[in-house]
Amino acid sequence: MEGDGKEPAKHKNCEACAKAPKWRSDFPIEWEGDHYVSRREMVKFLTLGSAVLTTATWVTAAAGGVLHRGAKGERYIGSAAMLEREGSLLFRYPTDQDPCIALKTPEGNLVAYSQVCTHLSCAVIYSKSENQLVCPCHNGHFNLEEGAPVSGPPTRPLPRVKLEQRGDQLYAVEVEA
Ligand code: FES
Repeated sequence: MEGDGKEPAKHKNCEACAKAPKWRSDFPIEWEGDHYVSRREMVKFLTLGSAVLTTATWVTAAAGGVLHRGAKGERYIGSAAMLEREGSLLFRYPTDQDPCIALKTPEGNLVAYSQVCTHLSCAVIYSKSENQLVCPCHNGHFNLEEGAPVSGPPTRPLPRVKLEQRGDQLYAVEVEA
């Protein structure tokens, strides 16, 4: 009797069942279920899935750097004394979701950039010993003067944030286009 647990299921007058090897009767999987997802379909699915994810990551990384260029608005970011003392100052601009970093170059210029690496959006940090902004994810390096990429995978500069100093107070006023 078909499917009663004692004998493997077989289709009546089925040529494929008749030719099936002995091991097939020990593992009686229904033919329809056996062909439900083939190996080729699985590979195709995984390939397409990873291509979509990769594209989405690139688009998000590119959009993150481009969307806020030209954004304006004044925001207090901290005191000049604190920046002097710490060597760099982390802040958010133009929104609370946009991490930025301000620092003073060895020449004494006050500069600020988006902290979002233009490669794949990791956070860049200030390396005093290398005198550069460094992205630890893939060892990307940016210079302090322009935020331009100098080594590693990034090819685009970091968006620059314009600062204004009033007495001891520092304000971010614009993401330069
Ligand atoms: S994310 Fe910065 S170098 Fe790759």
